[in-house]
Amino acid sequence: MKKFLTSSLLLASLLLSSCGKVSYDISMYKKEMTYHDNFKIMQLTDLHFGIEMDSDKEIKHLNKMLDIAKNEKYDLIVITGDSFLDAKKAHVNLLINTIDNANIPWAYTYGNHDFQGQYDSLYINDQIKKAKNAVFVDYDNDNIHGYTNYFINLKEGDAIKYRLFIIDSNSYHPTGFKYGYDIIHDEQIEHIKNIYKDAPATALAFFHIPLTEYQIAYDLYKDGQIIGQGENNEPCCPGYTDKNHAFNWLKNCGVIATFTGHDHVNYSDLLYKDMILSYGVKSSDLVYHQDDKIGYKLITLPSDVGEFGLNKIESRFVLYE
Ligand SMILES: [Fe+2]
Repeated sequence: MKKFLTSSLLLASLLLSSCGKVSYDISMYKKEMTYHDNFKIMQLTDLHFGIEMDSDKEIKHLNKMLDIAKNEKYDLIVITGDSFLDAKKAHVNLLINTIDNANIPWAYTYGNHDFQGQYDSLYINDQIKKAKNAVFVDYDNDNIHGYTNYFINLKEGDAIKYRLFIIDSNSYHPTGFKYGYDIIHDEQIEHIKNIYKDAPATALAFFHIPLTEYQIAYDLYKDGQIIGQGENNEPCCPGYTDKNHAFNWLKNCGVIATFTGHDHVNYSDLLYKDMILSYGVKSSDLVYHQDDKIGYKLITLPSDVGEFGLNKIESRFVLYE
C-alpha cells in the first residue's frame, strides 16, 4: 500500500535495477494454497455493511450463504470490494468475524466505498491481519499503489495450477470538475508483470472496478457477436481511463478471467478476446439492488486448465427470507 504518489522516475528506480532485474522480493506478496480437482471459489461482493443496516437481518443472510459454502465444501471465499459504506468499527469487526468464523480461507480486496467510514485507513487491514482464516498480505507504504497487491498460487506439488491476483482497483480520480472512478495504477501493473516474469502461470484476477472492456464486451454480447451468460441491468461504470491498457497487460500476464463488483445489478460473464469478464452477484440487499439477484458467484477450477470456461462460473442467488 502506497500512501503518497511516487514519480514514475523514482518508481522505475525502486522497482528495477539497471540490469532490469526486479529489486524487491516478490515472494513478500505471495500466498499459497493446495490445489485439488474442482477447487471452488465463492465470490462475495458489495455487501455495503454500514450504519443504515439491520445487523441481525444481514448477518442471518450472510450466514445462510456461508452455510452453503461449508456444506458444499468451497475452498476459498474472495471478497471483491465495497464491503463497507458509512460504517463504524463495529461493522468492520462484525463482518470480518462472521466471515472468519466460517473456517474457510478468505481473501479480500477493497472497493471505492470501503474507506467511507468512522475509522482510519488502516483499520480494516489491521483487523483482517488478525483474522485466523484470512489469506491476506499488505505492507504499509511499500510504494505500490493500493492496499492489496498480493497473489495466491494454487499449488499441485511444486507446480502452480492457477494463480489468483487480488488487486486493489482503488477508489476515485479527479477528472476536471468531477470525480471519476480510479483504475489499476501503472506500478500495480508493473508489479503484476514482475510476478508473471518471475513464475508464469494461468491466472484469475479479482478486483472491484470493472475494466473499460466490460461495456464493450456487453454491447457485443447483446449484438450476438460474442458468447456469454447473465445480464447487465445498468451501464458499466469502469475507471476513468483505459490509458494503461490493463486488459492487455493482465492477459499478457496469464489472466484468463477477471471478477469484479461495483455495478450492483450486473451479473454477466462474457468471453471477450479469449478472456472472461465477469461481474459478481451482489451479496446483500444494502444500497441499490434487485431483490431476486442477490447471492454470490461460484467459480470452479478444473484440473485441466484448458477446460476452464463460462460453464465453470455460476450465478447463485440466495434470497432473504
Ligand atoms: Fe458497491
